[in-house]
Amino acid sequence: MEKLFMLLLLALAATGKSSVVSAADAYESPQFRVVHLESDFEIRLYKEISWMSALVNGTSFQNSTKQGFHRLYQYLQGANRNSTCFSMTKPVLTTIVPSHSGGSPSSYIVRYYLPAAYNNKSPPPPLAELNLQLDKWKSHCIAVRKFTGYARDDNVEKEKDGLVASLGKSLMQGMDQNQNYNYSIAQYNASKHPTGRINEVWMDVLGFAAEGCAQ
Ligand SMILES: *[C@@H]1O[C@H](CO)[C@@H](O)[C@H](O)[C@H]1NC(C)=O
Ligand SMILES: *[C@@H]1O[C@H](CO)[C@@H](O)[C@H](O)[C@H]1NC(C)=O
Ligand SMILES: *[C@@H]1O[C@H](CO)[C@@H](O)[C@H](O)[C@H]1NC(C)=O
Ligand SMILES: *[C@@H]1O[C@H](CO)[C@@H](O)[C@H](O)[C@H]1NC(C)=O
Ligand SMILES: *[C@@H]1O[C@H](CO)[C@@H](O)[C@H](O)[C@H]1NC(C)=O
Repeated sequence: MEKLFMLLLLALAATGKSSVVSAADAYESPQFRVVHLESDFEIRLYKEISWMSALVNGTSFQNSTKQGFHRLYQYLQGANRNSTCFSMTKPVLTTIVPSHSGGSPSSYIVRYYLPAAYNNKSPPPPLAELNLQLDKWKSHCIAVRKFTGYARDDNVEKEKDGLVASLGKSLMQGMDQNQNYNYSIAQYNASKHPTGRINEVWMDVLGFAAEGCAQ
């Protein structure tokens, strides 16, 4: 984990320096609009998002995020067909893919958000050995619950259960904590910040009829 956060830290520092805007605004993030707000979560309508993504076979959220980010970081640093360097963006997203058997997850997808300039043009293809894929998400609604501190192997599932419970109580009464839903963890801060950290659990919202969410 330490290495990942060193990398994150370096990447964030590198992009921060060359920018004239304040650090808080220096990183591009995907655009969204809040369509529903509750005390402990919200529903966001995201615009289309393009990600460069790394599939990692593993059993640890932390180790898999570190490995996947390492591959993505090389892409950002120019390991692509045009030797293009990219700015760091936020968040780094790790999708937890539930196992079919219902046991512990055995794969993770780590994602780097491609700057909006690549919404309508293809980014340079990654070097083949990095084994990365371009993922384009259509505009859709995502339920989001924030949590602070570090995102770790021993808390991400609990945070996801918290979101499932909140959704089940209010908007989505069919939701059940015993089902294996896909979810993602969005991380916004480098490791040098022990406090003031922001992470989020993301879950796709299906069948929620708020404005713009209808599938
Ligand atoms: C992960 O496992 C799947 C299925 O076993 C395999 O097809 C894939 O190539 C593996 N990917 C990596 C990056 O190791
Ligand atoms: C994660 O990586 C660390 C360091 O390489 C290792 O000690 C640990 O066993 C790994 N954890 C899992 C669950 O694979
Ligand atoms: C790669 O570079 C070539 C030549 O400069 C340019 O025409 C092309 O648009 C670039 N491709 C991408 C995906 O940036
Ligand atoms: C869960 O994620 C996997 C891998 O991205 C995808 O194939 C599957 O369709 C997703 N399932 C749902 C219900 O979104
Ligand atoms: C963590 O990231 C969030 C979102 O970008 C930012 O608002 C916040 O200031 C960051 N926290 C620290 C301690 O840098």
